Amino acid sequence: MCGIVGYIGQKEAFPIIIEGLKRLEYRGYDSAGVALFDGNNLNVCKTKGKVADLEEKVNKSIPTHGNIGIGHTRWATHGVPNDVNAHPHYSNSGDLVIIHNGIIENYESLRKELTARGYEFTSDTDTEVLVNLIEDVKLKENLKLGKAVQVALNQVIGAYAIAVFDKNKPDEIVIARLGSPLAVGVGDNEFFIASDASPFIEYTKNAIYLEDEEMAIIRANKDIKIRKIKDDSLVDPYVQELQMNLEQIEKGGFDHFMLKEIYEQPSAIRDTYRGRLLVKEGIVKMAGINDNIERFLNADRIIVVACGTSWHAGLVAEYIFEDIARIPVEVEYASEFRYRNPVITNKDVVIAISQSGETADTLAAIKLAKSHGAFVFGVCNVVGSSIARETHAGAYTHAGPEIGVASTKAFTTQITVLTLIALKLAKIKGEISLPEFRHHLQELELIPEKVQKALESEDHIKMIANKYKDVRNCLYLGRGYNFPVALEGALKLKEISYIHAEGYPAAEMKHGPIALIDENMPVVVIATKKGHYEKIVSNIEEIKARQGKIIAVVTEGDTNVQRLADYVIEVPETLECLSPLLTTIPLQLLSYHIAVLLDKNVDQPRNLAKSVTVE
Ligand code: F6R
Repeated sequence: MCGIVGYIGQKEAFPIIIEGLKRLEYRGYDSAGVALFDGNNLNVCKTKGKVADLEEKVNKSIPTHGNIGIGHTRWATHGVPNDVNAHPHYSNSGDLVIIHNGIIENYESLRKELTARGYEFTSDTDTEVLVNLIEDVKLKENLKLGKAVQVALNQVIGAYAIAVFDKNKPDEIVIARLGSPLAVGVGDNEFFIASDASPFIEYTKNAIYLEDEEMAIIRANKDIKIRKIKDDSLVDPYVQELQMNLEQIEKGGFDHFMLKEIYEQPSAIRDTYRGRLLVKEGIVKMAGINDNIERFLNADRIIVVACGTSWHAGLVAEYIFEDIARIPVEVEYASEFRYRNPVITNKDVVIAISQSGETADTLAAIKLAKSHGAFVFGVCNVVGSSIARETHAGAYTHAGPEIGVASTKAFTTQITVLTLIALKLAKIKGEISLPEFRHHLQELELIPEKVQKALESEDHIKMIANKYKDVRNCLYLGRGYNFPVALEGALKLKEISYIHAEGYPAAEMKHGPIALIDENMPVVVIATKKGHYEKIVSNIEEIKARQGKIIAVVTEGDTNVQRLADYVIEVPETLECLSPLLTTIPLQLLSYHIAVLLDKNVDQPRNLAKSVTVE
């Protein structure tokens, strides 16, 4: 959600900023803008639409020369997406310019106060209020920019990542964060600012991640000074070496990031279990669990908090934790959990699942659980993300950057981590026999090659996609471990193709959705051999009796369902508890191909953001 890029140094700022904004497109946005200082003038250009539109407009309308600049992609919160509401925003004097991610919750009262003091506003945004608040404080108290930003932020309620520039002090950029991520790339006498490290990865591997309630003054050819916004104490910059490389954030010959990421799943799952799944030794090694084993063993229950696809991974975890480790699990939408006064005790273990590690609701749910004494364990993909830092312990998924807005490899690698945890706890608790445990490890080790096999059905799936691309509705059914896969399949279809889709536990069909079934309703049914097979075959019969069109995901070699279904897609056989890792693959490919055939923007579907940093 919203992206920030900035540069200060010796290089031309514009190419770095515009390419950086393109790298952040995956976050989701509806307008974009830049401010460039050419040595004398501050030139601002902004537009509704894509970064490519901005690039064209900049080239036509403002000088692109200059060694300092800031750029922004905006996902509208206050005010519709248009040129005026796009960032950067000027202060009334025209001296200060700001870009901002997040929401200033008390912006209306601040706006009223500033209006009473003679300030005028041209946009509907909370951001324009913030830049004028900074200016007001600066002028009133005759402060330097850094100090004025600090004083102003102490009056603000809400979330932000900001970068501010003063054209009268053109050798520094002031940045600050609370609740929205901000990274600084440290080069030779130059600094890069960005919402994540992807915009500067080819320039430097050294990055500083600003913590919440920190601000920094960044000076060209000099240094970076980090302070706590509240108490003004100085913070020693902690420079991390980035593990990410350029290849990981490029499409590598695929038409879309989503397809690349679908195909990355065999290696991503291997990366997830590497060093953790020790089949020969018969061990699952996970420091985050070992170091806190008493908390897990003494837990009354596990509460999973997450949103969207990560919530679906949490549902799969519920099945495996209860089935194999015999630990009660509750799976909660973070957004509901945080506001419904839930009962949480210090005997609860909370597992927070998040690809981005920045989802605002999940972060708030974690803080709430901690305040009640619960132990919070994070399952995140993005290293160093807010959730990874806010949790007591955790395990990274190591899936590599996921750029496509529709989550794919994040889902399967989250399930892989959660399966490892469940197996480890089951063994320690004595809930699984040693031979069974070893068998599970062996089967899990084979999953990447089986995912590879499942990917071979792509052409067949493309043909099915062509057949059903024009439908208005679609049902997804699954039972047991594959019920969450049905939910995930439906989510994938609706978010990238805009076709209405619903996922249901197959047996629930009779309690309502069956009324929708006629010859125009495709029903995707997950009907693998293990796991209530006979029951799901009966459900398929019921759909057929009502002329529904059946697309069944079956175990390799199944001929029974083939007789009934309009189309079958085979996946290799595995243990029931591991089957979601395979059955989800054809559903990802199906939604991908339908969206491509409908000419939708697969990687950046409308209205969606990759990292949902506002509630
Ligand atoms: C769906 C999707 C979203 C995210 C959700 C949570 O494809 O990507 O539903 O799963 O916004 O995001 P994270 O996992 O980053 O907390």
